[in-house]
Amino acid sequence: MKRRPGEVRDAIVSVLGARPRGATVADIKGEVSALIGDVPASSVRSYLQLNTPGLFARMDRAQYVLKEFLDRPLNDRPQAQIKSLVIGNAKLFNADCIGWLEQQPPNSFHAVVTDPPYGLVEYTADEQRKLRSGKGGIWRIPPSFDGSKRAPLPRFTVLKPADLDAVESFFYAWARRLIGVIVPGANVVVASNPLLSYLVSGALSKAGLERRGEIVRLVMTMRGGDRPKDAHVEFSDVSVMPRSMWEPWLVFRKPLNGRVQDNLRKWGTGGFRRISEDRPFGDVIESSPTRPSERAIAPHPSLKPQAFLRQLVRGVLPLGRGVVLDPFAGSGSTLAAAEAMGYQSVGVEKDPEYFRVAQKAVPALARLKFNGA
Ligand SMILES: C[S@@+](CC[C@H](N)C(=O)[O-])C[C@H]1O[C@@H](n2cnc3c(N)ncnc32)[C@H](O)[C@@H]1O
Repeated sequence: MKRRPGEVRDAIVSVLGARPRGATVADIKGEVSALIGDVPASSVRSYLQLNTPGLFARMDRAQYVLKEFLDRPLNDRPQAQIKSLVIGNAKLFNADCIGWLEQQPPNSFHAVVTDPPYGLVEYTADEQRKLRSGKGGIWRIPPSFDGSKRAPLPRFTVLKPADLDAVESFFYAWARRLIGVIVPGANVVVASNPLLSYLVSGALSKAGLERRGEIVRLVMTMRGGDRPKDAHVEFSDVSVMPRSMWEPWLVFRKPLNGRVQDNLRKWGTGGFRRISEDRPFGDVIESSPTRPSERAIAPHPSLKPQAFLRQLVRGVLPLGRGVVLDPFAGSGSTLAAAEAMGYQSVGVEKDPEYFRVAQKAVPALARLKFNGA
């Protein structure tokens, strides 16, 4: 990949600019790769060494920090000015969640329900500009179906091995920070897709979260099922990939502190809330694609439906108390589901346009009525 001179150095400065406490080479590599595409750890390391002690300083445990931060005491290092808003029991921040998580005190959150950017590149400023102008990029518009127009989908099959490495590094760095701010026994439920879930799952386990299974969202998606491109007549009986009819939501947990009952008593975590006395929380949830009426309220290309999210969000707090976190909040659909359940929630969204959308969407989605939810 051809880079402009100084691109990697500038990306490292931008990543460390949001980390007054510094970061390891592995973390910096993950975040720099998320910003500008894959950059090998060796290259990050040589930029750091080349510019140390000018721009960067090396701390203990192979952490690097911006030199300008090191010259000041920790509590005097600049904090990014972060916009936030309160909507009922929900609080939403307009920030990059990686730096934001670093600023949160330990034991702040009791569950995580989130739908991250899977290929990482699809929510970069460049790809969002292409999506908004309807031209090129990773987003494709699936053909209309049953007369209805479909929302754009990112093409994860175009990711190259280096992009896949960047996905893994990013989720490792993300999970390391997350573990620092959630309570023992907290459930971490992460939306995924069958092409990339193995990478994310591996990174989360490596970071120290315990894998507890997967929730299957049974939904007819627009992925797969197509005949071979430019040869669909010749091979009319062939689907290149299975038509995807489900979506995996990875289920992880921060290791318990003691027994389940100890965690339940101390933190209100360590299990799932039962649906009723005779129905446990299950790992298959029937769902439909997001309804056009919800899309009209919350125009986001990855909007998840309230009917599904409310079941999930309800289940992740076993005693119905605590704070649910969504670090990739998009239009705020998780926060809206938490509002509808009467739970407290916190969201983080880095794109100012989606942050603005969420301001109106959270209360409007939370007001929607469903049978049984
Ligand atoms: C798949 S979408 C979530 C959509 C959401 N579930 C909804 O229903 O609206 C992922 C979101 O994460 C945001 N995002 C990507 N990287 C982020 C980061 N590092 N910090 C915070 N938000 C981020 C993107 O702008 C995007 O809106």
